[in-house]
Amino acid sequence: MEKQQNLVFFIYFLSFFVLLTGFQVVQCSSHHHHHHHQHRFSSAGISKLFVFGDSYVDTGNNNKTVARSWKEPYGITFPGKPAGRFSDGRVLTDYVASFIGIKSGPVPYVLRNMGTDPLSNGMNFAYGGTGVFNTLTLDPNMTTQIDFLQQLLQDGVYTKDDLNSSMALVSAAGNDYTAYLAKNGTTEGLPAFITSVVNQLALNLKRIHELGIRKVVVTALEPLGCLPQRTASSFYQQCNETDNKAVDLHNLLLQQAVEKLNNESKDAGFVILDIHGAFLSLLKGQGAHPGISKFENPLKPCCVGVTNEFSCGSVDESGVKKYTVCENPELAFFWDDVHPAQEGWFEVYSALQASLSQIHLG
Ligand SMILES: *[C@@H]1O[C@H](CO)[C@@H](O)[C@H](O)[C@H]1NC(C)=O
Ligand SMILES: *[C@@H]1O[C@H](CO)[C@@H](O)[C@H](O)[C@H]1NC(C)=O
Ligand SMILES: *[C@@H]1O[C@H](CO)[C@@H](O)[C@H](O)[C@H]1NC(C)=O
Ligand SMILES: *[C@@H]1O[C@H](CO)[C@@H](O)[C@H](O)[C@H]1NC(C)=O
Ligand SMILES: *[C@@H]1O[C@H](CO)[C@@H](O)[C@H](O)[C@H]1NC(C)=O
Ligand SMILES: *[C@@H]1O[C@H](CO)[C@@H](O)[C@H](O)[C@H]1NC(C)=O
Repeated sequence: MEKQQNLVFFIYFLSFFVLLTGFQVVQCSSHHHHHHHQHRFSSAGISKLFVFGDSYVDTGNNNKTVARSWKEPYGITFPGKPAGRFSDGRVLTDYVASFIGIKSGPVPYVLRNMGTDPLSNGMNFAYGGTGVFNTLTLDPNMTTQIDFLQQLLQDGVYTKDDLNSSMALVSAAGNDYTAYLAKNGTTEGLPAFITSVVNQLALNLKRIHELGIRKVVVTALEPLGCLPQRTASSFYQQCNETDNKAVDLHNLLLQQAVEKLNNESKDAGFVILDIHGAFLSLLKGQGAHPGISKFENPLKPCCVGVTNEFSCGSVDESGVKKYTVCENPELAFFWDDVHPAQEGWFEVYSALQASLSQIHLG
């Protein structure tokens, strides 16, 4: 039963096979002017952004016909319709892109030949549902995502010089642990598995750097025990501390691995983006604006299935929608059972300003 619970929790990361019906599109026009400000730290000397990982940073690589990121009600806040992001609007990638002064986020790999976005901003290789190892999806793992970039280098789409003025954003937000538990991994074996995930992640970071990308920024693992899927049983009142302890091990090992990479490289090009700390402080109602608890109940997601069997975006066979969306998505930290809402990501980004401002090419 415990295993069953874990499976139900983690499977939602994968977010597939969700068919939807029509839904009233709600434009949230008020309150978002701050998203369009050019940020004062934007001249970091970085010309391109390359993105690797999963749904926390994917902006459209998942399969359009099956992924819920391409179905309503995803995208209702921005751009106003489903657009391949696992959120009501922008995700971390969009904010990091604006930080380094790239107006539109880097083009998703699968859309690179559509002519809609310039390749000069970099490229997003992240696929929702994937991990450093193969997970429960057939989409490319992080190694294969890096292979894609290497191929584009060989094909002359990007040059070494391009990469020398580029930054990589790398997210490994937990799908490896999803797959581990779903494939009957034991609790006893978890620490060893966490070690192998972080070791593989470190190899990937090193390889990205060796390809020539000078700044390699990796996200810490967010507190998995605070994701709505884990807190639903307490009516969104309490994080699961057992899960969060495992997360702490991942983050400790990641910190050591990145320190080692920086010790071994001349330019100290590796940086951890502490989204873990940002999530925790925002979920406690502190965040970038102490004293103002902007999220009503930060643990409670905006978009939820009508019962346990359904999730955000679910519809039944006759096309009837089996989810509800809150009235004010801008008051929610979480959008669905595992993904922050746009406002949540914006606040995470705001909380990370101090560490982002350290990132520049000189
Ligand atoms: C997307 O999924 C559909 C349905 O499973 C499949 O037919 C199609 O080949 C997939 N497309 C890609 C690019 O993987
Ligand atoms: C990534 O995927 C490829 C293709 O499925 C596989 O051969 C490779 O072993 C995977 N890499 C890792 C680190 O799991
Ligand atoms: C990358 O750029 C820096 C600063 O402009 C320069 O010193 C360095 O030689 C370049 N490295 C490569 C491999 O081109
Ligand atoms: C996991 O274990 C259950 C019960 O022991 C079994 O029914 C299931 O097939 C196993 N799944 C995998 C992926 O091994
Ligand atoms: C926390 O999660 C673990 C499994 O990771 C589970 O065994 C435990 O019952 C959960 N605790 C609470 C309070 O829900
Ligand atoms: C990195 O180098 C510092 C200073 O030389 C050292 O104290 C530290 O133990 C090293 N860390 C790792 C993980 O190698």
